[in-house]
Amino acid sequence: MALKIQGVKGAADILPQEIATWHFVEEKTRELFERFGFKEIRTPVFEHTELFVRSVGEGTDIVTKEMYTFVDKAEKSLTMRPEETASVVRAYLQHSYHVKEPFQKWYYIGPMFRRERPQAGRQRQFHQIGVEVLGGSDPQLDAELLSLTVQFFEAISLNDIEIKLNNVGCNQCRPKYIGALKEYLKSRLAKLCEDCHVRFEKNILRILDCKNKDCRPVIDKAPVILDSICPDLCGRHYEVVKNRLKLLGITFTEDPHMVRGLDYYTRTVFEIVHPALGAQDAIGAGGRYDNLIGDLGGPKELGATGFAFGMERILMALTKKNVTLKEKSLNPDIFLVSLGEDASKQNFKLLYDLRCRGITAEMDMTGRSVKAQMRSANKSNARFTLIRGEDEIKSGKVTLKNMKEGTEESLDPDKVINILKY
Ligand code: HAM
Repeated sequence: MALKIQGVKGAADILPQEIATWHFVEEKTRELFERFGFKEIRTPVFEHTELFVRSVGEGTDIVTKEMYTFVDKAEKSLTMRPEETASVVRAYLQHSYHVKEPFQKWYYIGPMFRRERPQAGRQRQFHQIGVEVLGGSDPQLDAELLSLTVQFFEAISLNDIEIKLNNVGCNQCRPKYIGALKEYLKSRLAKLCEDCHVRFEKNILRILDCKNKDCRPVIDKAPVILDSICPDLCGRHYEVVKNRLKLLGITFTEDPHMVRGLDYYTRTVFEIVHPALGAQDAIGAGGRYDNLIGDLGGPKELGATGFAFGMERILMALTKKNVTLKEKSLNPDIFLVSLGEDASKQNFKLLYDLRCRGITAEMDMTGRSVKAQMRSANKSNARFTLIRGEDEIKSGKVTLKNMKEGTEESLDPDKVINILKY
């Protein structure tokens, strides 16, 4: 027997019995995000590789280790998107929104691709729900995103999330901090893991995010970025974000060591964690990226901010909390049972006519016995079963059985629709 082909590791099938939860989360997303003024955008799943190198950052894990990159026939290097922020900014600039109407609020739902080591909550194809606010620098926009976050998780019954907040400064103040961090870590490198040695050379801020327990004592005492940020711009921005969150009664924890795995962030950064998730506890993350529009060729003064939630992690948390949703009801209104070729042919035509008129109708097309067809009709939970056997063919009528009441009547096939409509 030929070898069965399996799906790619880390890329999961979403089976019909799981789809109700996906639809539920997607419907809540659309309803709520649109209420907050966001419009949907859909971008391609692959882009020129350079887009992600320039935005996510050359030294990041995503770009150095995790991208699915291939060369197409025209010898262009293309990459399956590892995230969508870069694609959204590319689309914004390509379609000249920065000129026509610079302030835009967009959301997306779709698959992303990262070649990470698969484990619970970490896949190679996963789905994100995200938003991007483009062309705005007001700190209230960051607070608005977090207020949407709180509303979203409440709407899907995951209200026990925690918001972790930090400010990573801007191009003016970050070099000063990096200098201070380098100075502090230089004499303590021997106490850090090998990965941190590489990070020290390539992307020193990532050391702060090291998960190795042995590195924590050194990292926990490292200078924090908040002490170095410029007070007038970044400091004020941070104060307004926190003030607005308090104004709305939104609780958050300040995490001065939080840095993100993508290079484009400036000022506000945040992570949303859920206690049910274990090791991969980030259910979502985001922040401000005021330089990206400029870095990708747009006007330097246009700021932006956004977030993305991991769909699979949302579903994991829902399962752990025993929030299960009933499979969508696909019960037909009517099941047509036929005896013989003629009856089957006439039922086939009736099936189409009923469906055209808005009725959910089913019939057996595998040539099974009337008894077996009756069993299927029962199992399908159809409201009515229509029977067309020899007698019915002769009389030109059909037998309609009301499955709930257990009553039967013989009637003209044209009249069936009238009964079903009520
Ligand atoms: P990110 O932190 O890389 O940010 O991803 C956001 C969320 O996607 C994570 O918190 C997690 O829930 C989910 N996620 C990431 N990788 C995986 C994976 N391999 N398997 C399952 N879930 C995963 C971004 O992607 C930014 N673009 C967010 C953003 C939007 N910042 C500003 N705007």
